[in-house]
Formats: sequence, structure tokens, C-alpha cells
Amino acid sequence: MRRLHASLLWVALVLLIGCSREEPASNVSDSAREETVIAQVETDPLTGLKMAGDWELVRGNCTACHSAKLITQQRGTAEQWLAMIRWMQKKQNLWQFDPDTESRIIAYLADNYPPDAARRRAAIPRDLMPPNPYAYASAN
Ligand code: HEC
Repeated sequence: MRRLHASLLWVALVLLIGCSREEPASNVSDSAREETVIAQVETDPLTGLKMAGDWELVRGNCTACHSAKLITQQRGTAEQWLAMIRWMQKKQNLWQFDPDTESRIIAYLADNYPPDAARRRAAIPRDLMPPNPYAYASAN
């Protein structure tokens, strides 16, 4: 009886060790892994900006008129970020930056808030769309 107990104990022990070994994370998708990496960058509790590189320059220049949330919920390439800045300069009284400041701001934005494959795709340009069957019913 005592031998039976002892061997049952061994079986239990072997099972325990066998099951507790972690599975290799082979089924984790690339985007999930990417998000884990991104999540490791600390965010500023006040603005929500990722605290990397020139984030304080962006905080200083980009949160005077609106919440940083407008920035953190946006994504874009360097070109797209520059276009947003040009739009604000033209329409929203955003001041001009010296070239060095501007390129550092753009680099921060494009590095930390790049286009994201998991998000909704960009709209298809109108000239690449099929003809609109309701063209006469509505204004466009
Ligand atoms: C002088 C004021 C001002 C400053 C400074 C400013 N913005 Fe803006 N920004 C605006 C206004 C006004 C809007 C439009 C807000 C709205 O639509 O409610 C806007 C909108 C935005 C949007 C949303 C654009 C969209 O298409 O939805 C983003 C992103 C943005 N700003 C980023 C920035 C960044 C990055 C900086 C720093 C380089 C910055 N802003 C600095 C005035 C400013």
C-alpha cells in the first residue's frame, strides 16, 4: 500500500512538472507580439504620450491648443504627419518650427505613431472607385 502511494506521488509529480512547462508562444500573431513591444514603452500619465525620444518637444509644441489624445489616437507616416502639421499651420494658427525642431517632431510621431496594419485601411481614392450608382440621386 505504501509503495502504491509512493508511485502515485511520482506520477503526480511528473504530471505537474510536465504540465507547468510553458508552451512556446508560436501561435501568437505578429501583430499581437508587436503590440506587446509597443506596450512596453512607458506613457506619460498626464498626456498619454509615449515617453520615448523627443516626446517632451512634442508635449511642449503640440498640446497647447488641444489634448494630446488627438495625437495619440492618430497614425501616420512621416509624410502624413507633416501634412497634418502643414494643415494646422495653414488653418489653425499653428506656429512655424525651425527645420531641426520640425524634423525631430516628425521623427517622434512617425516612430511612435506609425500606420498600423491592424487599423482600418485608408479610404480608397475616389478616382479608383467604381462609378457611384447613386450619382444622380445625391450631390456626388
Ligand atoms: C495653434 C494651435 C495648435 C497647435 C499648437 C497644434 N495643433 Fe493640432 N490641431 C489644432 C486644431 C484647431 C485642430 C482641429 C481640432 C478639431 O478638429 O477639433 C487640430 C487637430 C489635430 C489633429 C487631428 C487631425 C485630424 O485629421 O483628425 C492632430 C493629429 C494634431 N492636431 C496634431 C498636432 C501635433 C502633432 C501638433 C504639434 C506639432 C499640434 N497638433 C499642435 C490646433 C493646433
